[in-house]
Formats: sequence, structure tokens, C-alpha cells
Amino acid sequence: MQQPTSGANQRIARIAAHLHPPTLQIEGESSGLGRMDCRAKGGSPGFKVAVLGAAGGIGQPLAMLMKINPLVSVLHLYDVVNTPGVTADISHMDTNAVVRGFLGQQQLEDALTGMDIVIIPAGVPRKPGMTRDDLFNINAGIVKTLCEGIAKCCPKAIVNLISNPVNSTVPIAAEVFKKVGTYDPKRLLGVTMLDVVRANTFVAEVLGLDPREVDVPVVGGHAGVTILPLLSQVKPSCSLTPTEIDYLTDRIQNGGTEVVEAKAGAGSATLSMAYAAAKFADACLRGLRGDASVIECAYVASTVTELPFFASKVRLGRAGIEEIYSLGPLNEYERAGLEKAKKELAGSIQKGVSFVRK
Ligand code: NAD
Ligand code: LMR
Repeated sequence: MQQPTSGANQRIARIAAHLHPPTLQIEGESSGLGRMDCRAKGGSPGFKVAVLGAAGGIGQPLAMLMKINPLVSVLHLYDVVNTPGVTADISHMDTNAVVRGFLGQQQLEDALTGMDIVIIPAGVPRKPGMTRDDLFNINAGIVKTLCEGIAKCCPKAIVNLISNPVNSTVPIAAEVFKKVGTYDPKRLLGVTMLDVVRANTFVAEVLGLDPREVDVPVVGGHAGVTILPLLSQVKPSCSLTPTEIDYLTDRIQNGGTEVVEAKAGAGSATLSMAYAAAKFADACLRGLRGDASVIECAYVASTVTELPFFASKVRLGRAGIEEIYSLGPLNEYERAGLEKAKKELAGSIQKGVSFVRK
């Protein structure tokens, strides 16, 4: 039987732990009924997912959405600031995934070890007047460091790269992995899902349809003219006027800037991006589970054009990317757009490659 004093001490310790919560869920550190003593260890079936940059504008709602995903059994939240609070908050949601927080570079390796999917929204966002390429100087270094960690701790993980400029950060990640010999192009995906999400929404608006019924392939890359919506391939098939095509192409290509300007210095798209990233990660998870016909657009190592990286439809499976689809028939308008996209993309890819090789 428990001694009265020991029971009182445990109650006091428990109250104190609430007033001064341990900064992280490090097993064995808390007093009273510590997490060490809890029976749940995240052993239920499912995949292990890490979000790097989890305390940010995208990271927080993305972490919440991944906590809701029934395919996730363990969710690791890593950032250089504020993960204790975000982790404590999200860990109280009564869904399956066990959540653990990791703070700062010294905990990066623990955050990554054993992960099946790593989602990276770490890095600075745009302010009005900036291009995504203006973020290169800061974000290139962040992505490089994080990918070095992935190469060391979970080289087989599927990487979903969100940090901008995606057109350059994906080549950076590829070069980092090549350098250490872990590069598998099937497992590295630049997230361009927000372009598809926007395209579906804007096209549905014009056609008066439910956006959930609309599917617009968006190919190329993820910046300005490199974002190439293939409006001739919209499903359900429809005919758009030249004015509608001009309006939609411009709005889809500048959707990010529309949000940056509306936020007026407070950042770029976070909520729609978290939604898009969660939708994309779910597709990757369903592929890993072995579901058939999981097809999404992503920016990947590709032979669809002469460029080494290009966004197009890909089929996701147990190994990551299992098939990359060609662009299909393009009309004259889209062929002209493709030439512009390739010109800009070539420079962005080279910039990323040179950053690591220098
Ligand atoms: P944010 O500033 O709100 O959050 C970024 C987070 O990254 C912060 O919490 C920060 O502490 C963290 N961070 C910085 N350095 C880090 C490091 N070395 N390791 C781990 N975490 C680190 O920014 P945000 O709005 O969440 O945007 C993040 C990135 O996503 C930006 O580069 C933005 O341009 C990009 N983005 C991409 C898309 C896309 O479609 N691919 C869409 C929207 C935003
Ligand atoms: C977006 O498309 O919303 C993101 O790439 C963020 C940005 O800078 O526009």
C-alpha cells in the first residue's frame, strides 16, 4: 500500500509539473506518473512522421492535421524554437498518433531517427515585394543542414520539401544526399500541391462547380511562370474562353503573391499550405501502405523534359515515386508557357546544385 506522504508528494509533484511543465516529453524526466510509466509508447500500427519547422505558420496547423491522420502512429515535431508548447498542445488531441517534441539542433538526430516521412516547412517566408528566390540565402542553408540530418538518421525516409524556393531547395536536397551516397530520387518530392489546390479552387469558381470534383494538373515548378496549369486537361472536361484561361493562369501563378500581399508583411500562405501539405503527405502515406492509383503532382527528379527536375503527375507507392507521367497533349498556349517555365527553372536548379557543390 502507498504511504500517505509519498501519495501527497506525488500529488504536489504533479501540480508542480503543470505549473512548470518539463520543456519536452523526454522519457523519464518528469516526476509523479511520468510518461515513462505510461503504457502508450506509439506502438500501434501506422507510420512515423516528422515535421521540421513545426512551430511555424505552416508547421503548427500541419502538425495538427497530421495528428488527425489515422495512418500516423508517431509524430515528431522539430523546430529551433517553441516546440515544447506546440507539442504539449497537440499531444492533448485524442487521436492515435503519439507526439514528441524536439528543440534545437542538438535534438535533430533524435527527431529524425526511425522516420518514414519527413515534411520540411522550415525556413523564412516572403514579405511583399520579395520573390521566392529572395529567400534562397537563408533557406538554402537551413534545408542543407536538415537534409544532412536526414541522410544520417533516416536515409530511407520519404522527404516532402516545402521550404522555398522549392525550385532550388529540391536540387539542394538531392545534392546533399548524393554527397553522402543516400540519394534515392524516388523518395524526394518538392511539394507543389498548393498550386493544384488553388487551381482546383479557382477553376471551380469560374465553372460554378464543387472544387472537390475538379482536377487540374499543374506542372513545371513552384514560382511565377514556372507554375504551369494545364487548363486543357481539366477534369471534368470543359471548355474555357481565352479570357478565362488568361485570368486563371495569372491567378494560379500569382496565388502565393496574392496571399503575401493580403497578409501585408505577416508572412505567406500558411493555412492553405498546411492543408495542401497534409493532403500530399496523406497521399504519400497511402502509397507507402500499398494503395493503388495514388496520383498527385510533385516537383521531382524527372526525364519528362530535358531539365533534371520538373513537376508533373506522379504515382506514389511503397517505394515513394513509382511512376512519373508525361505532360500529355499541350495546346499552343501551354507550349509557350512551358518554354518560359523551363527557362526560369533551369537557372533555379543550377543555383541549388552550385550551392552544395561549391
Ligand atoms: P514561419 O516563419 O512561420 O515558420 C518557419 C519555421 O521554421 C519557424 O518556426 C522557424 O523557427 C523554423 N526554422 C527556422 N530555421 C530552422 C531550422 N534550421 N530548423 C528547423 N526549423 C527552423 O514560415 P512559414 O510561413 O511556415 O513558411 C515556411 C516556408 O515554407 C517558407 O520558406 C515559405 O516560403 C514556404 N512555403 C512554401 C509553400 C509551398 O507551396 N511549397 C507554401 C507556403 C510557404
Ligand atoms: C505560396 O505559393 O503560397 C508559397 O510559395 C509562399 C509564397 O512565398 O508565395
